[in-house]
Amino acid sequence: MRAFVTGATGFIGSAVVQELIKAGHQVLGLARSEKAAKELVAAGAEVHRGSLEDLESLRNGAAAADGVIHTAFIHDFSNYGPAAEADRRAIEILGGALAGSDRPLIVTSGTLLAQRQGSLATEEDAPNPNFPRKSEEAAVALAARGVRASLVRLPPSVHGTGDHGFVPRLITIARDKGVSAYIEDGLNCWPAVHRLDASRLYRLALEKGGAGERYHGVADEGVPARDIAEVIGRQLDVPVVSKSREEAADHFGWIAPFFGMDGPASSAQTQQELGWRPVQPGLIADLNAEHYFEPIVSHVLSHS
Ligand SMILES: NC(=O)c1ccc[n+]([C@@H]2O[C@H](COP(=O)([O-])OP(=O)(O)OC[C@H]3O[C@@H](n4cnc5c(N)ncnc54)[C@H](OP(=O)(O)O)[C@@H]3O)[C@@H](O)[C@H]2O)c1
Repeated sequence: MRAFVTGATGFIGSAVVQELIKAGHQVLGLARSEKAAKELVAAGAEVHRGSLEDLESLRNGAAAADGVIHTAFIHDFSNYGPAAEADRRAIEILGGALAGSDRPLIVTSGTLLAQRQGSLATEEDAPNPNFPRKSEEAAVALAARGVRASLVRLPPSVHGTGDHGFVPRLITIARDKGVSAYIEDGLNCWPAVHRLDASRLYRLALEKGGAGERYHGVADEGVPARDIAEVIGRQLDVPVVSKSREEAADHFGWIAPFFGMDGPASSAQTQQELGWRPVQPGLIADLNAEHYFEPIVSHVLSHS
């Protein structure tokens, strides 16, 4: 299959590109810079120049492919509304280009967006309507129009070499403040997945995903925040402390509401439907590996 991948140069998208090529697919990767284009060529992908802002480029990329995986996102948490709107518009355009065919579109969302009904968030849980990111609603609207659009919900920690998400931010804060903190009793849990396991899920969803389905890329169902803080404290040799919710806002800054969330999640249904099995190290094992505590290197395509 020839897959159009947005975010193909990102932490997760670059692993998806590798996974697709390894499985015998061709990749047409979206690149918004010369640097990104070079990375894609080096990875063995074809280059499609464009951006999330250039809707015609998205339409043309999708039209030239047998399926689309959308992982690009503008990660500007200080300007989240416009980033979420750019994502919604992109999904609408990508899906529109696939309408009237059986060509799949895989959209990215997060397990923390699920409105959890039981002890674990499941694929059955609808998205929280109060969250500004509307990836799920956009995909569901496409599915209602007959587009084979499905969703991959990722946990708040997708980890592995090149991670530049929430966990590295927690490490930086601990380094800067000289303490590794958790909030209150630290028993709130984050699910997690390794980027290589996540990339395999995207491939399976592309190959077999059904319209309107939600897939959970969850390996660790729930890692207590306190356990994360303890590994960071041990690795940096700094004390591990509890912060009240009020202190947390000042200590953690913008990441405080995320690190304080309790969002355990399951992937049982996804594993059953797609035959996906996570096989990579869990979050705590990965955090015990040296690479998290070396100076951050850029997230190039050569990560393994
Ligand atoms: N990483 C996690 O732990 C995590 C957890 C939950 C959900 N997610 C979601 O998973 C998806 C992938 O995340 P990631 O960690 O791989 O992100 P990332 O490393 O920040 O990569 C973002 C990708 O989007 C591209 N991009 C950003 N702005 C763009 C624009 N205006 N036009 C075109 N492309 C643009 C980037 O291109 P350049 O290379 O040119 O910058 C890059 O390829 C996102 O939807 C993210 O919200 C991630």
